[in-house]
Amino acid sequence: MTRQSIFITGAASGIGRATAVQFHDRGWFVGATDVDEAGLASLSDQFEGDCFISRLDVSDKPAYDEVISEFAQSSGDRLDILFNNAGIAIFGKIEDLPFQKVIDTVNINFVGVLNGVHAAMALLKQTPNSLCFSTASSAASFGTAGLATYGATKAAVKSLSEALSVELARHDIRAADVSPGIIDTPLWETRGYVKGEMKPIANAAKTNVNRTDAGRTLSPDEVASCVWEAYQGDKLHYYVPPEVADHEKAKVADPEKMRDAQIGRRKK
Ligand code: NAI
Repeated sequence: MTRQSIFITGAASGIGRATAVQFHDRGWFVGATDVDEAGLASLSDQFEGDCFISRLDVSDKPAYDEVISEFAQSSGDRLDILFNNAGIAIFGKIEDLPFQKVIDTVNINFVGVLNGVHAAMALLKQTPNSLCFSTASSAASFGTAGLATYGATKAAVKSLSEALSVELARHDIRAADVSPGIIDTPLWETRGYVKGEMKPIANAAKTNVNRTDAGRTLSPDEVASCVWEAYQGDKLHYYVPPEVADHEKAKVADPEKMRDAQIGRRKK
C-alpha cells in the first residue's frame, strides 16, 4: 500500500507550511506547492527531500493540471487530502484598491480553489475516503469592511465546500473547510491601500497577543492540527479558535444588529 498523501497549496509559509510539517511527521507523503520557491526549497531541506515540491500559482489552471499529474507519479496515484490553502489578503476600502488587486484576490482565493478541485478530481475519486479541505476565514462570517473582496472569496469557499460535500459524497469524497481567526503568519506583515497608496497596516497577530476572546492570536500549528482533526472527523465547517463560530451564529440571528454595531449606530 502506498503512503497516505496530502497536496498543499501555499505550503512555503504559515498555515500551509505548519500543515506540511505535521503531516510529514505523521509519515504522510506531502506535496508542497507555492509561488515562493525559496520557501519550498527550505521545506524540502527540512524533510531531507522526502516530499514532492513544485512551484504552482493556483490561479493558473493549465499549470495546476500539470503539477497534479507530476504529483500523482510521485504519490502512486493517490491523494487523501487536497488542501486548498493558498491565499492573499490585500487591505483597503473598496474604492482605494487598484481593481487588478481585487481581481487577483478572487483569482487566487476562489478561482484557485476551483482550479484545485477540477485538477485533482480524478485523483480524489480513486482514493477512498478522500477529503477536499479549504482554508476559509473568520472574515467570511460577516462581510469584512476593509477586506470586502477577501471576505467574499472566503464566503464563496464555504459555500463551495457545502455543495461539494453533498455532490461528491457519491464518490466517497468529503469536503470541509476551516475558518481561522487571527493566526500569527507572514500574512499580517503586509501593507494596505489608503487612497491608492500602499501604507503599513496594523499587524493584528502582534496587537492581539494579550486578547483572550475569539480574536486572540494563535499559532499556525493550531490550524494544522485542525486539518488533521478534519481528516479524522466529519464536520463541514471548522473554526480556530472554536469561538469564531459564535460570531457567525450572531450574524445569522441578527445581521442588521451586526451591521449597525460596526457602523456605530443603534438598530432602528
Ligand atoms: P502566508 O502568507 O504565511 O502563506 C500564504 C502562502 O500562499 C504564501 O507562502 C504565499 O507565497 C502563497 N501564495 C500567495 N499567492 C499564491 C498563488 N497565486 N499561488 C500559490 N501560492 C500562493 O499566510 P497564511 O496566514 O498562512 O495564509 C494561508 C491561508 O490562511 C490563506 O488562504 C489565508 O487567507 C488564510 N487565513 C489566514 C489567517 C491569518 O490570520 N493568518 C486568518 C484566516 C485565514
